[in-house]
Amino acid sequence: MDTPLIPILVAPQAILKARALPVTDKHADQLRDLIPRMFAAMYHAPGIGLAAPQVGVGLRMFVVDLMPDDKPDPMVFINPEIVLQSTELATREEGCLSLPGQYADVTRPARVKLRYLDAQGAKKEIEAEDLLSACLQHEHDHLNGVLFVDHISALKRNMIWRKLAKAQREKQGAG
Ligand code: NI
Repeated sequence: MDTPLIPILVAPQAILKARALPVTDKHADQLRDLIPRMFAAMYHAPGIGLAAPQVGVGLRMFVVDLMPDDKPDPMVFINPEIVLQSTELATREEGCLSLPGQYADVTRPARVKLRYLDAQGAKKEIEAEDLLSACLQHEHDHLNGVLFVDHISALKRNMIWRKLAKAQREKQGAG
């Protein structure tokens, strides 16, 4: 029997603005169930990253798959911490499954180093640049209640909120 897809929350939602709580041993069963469901929702969307708050779970965890060479490369990040970031910046266009259809250029540190636990609870570190760097920073932001639109000018942000609200009204109007 197929498990139904876990819904991805569309902003604005209180949990998307909240700071998520650290994962502890007591969440092990919950995560074992949640992780495959988050990957399923992310691949279906489709997207390259999804953080637990986006599916209504206020825990410090996200999943990423950049599909290098069109092959799956699922990565799970539990209790991630950014331990180093470059002073050099990089700008790239970002979108978010919680802000469907909305995109903007976002400037962030070009390279980061993350410390985290993987799905098996092993301590890991990863150094990232380019798309992976932006993706890890974007997903890490979700754990602190920050969306990519919080990094752009108020003018552009308000434009995106207006477009999103209009698109959601039209979607509801269309049934
Ligand atoms: Ni996002």
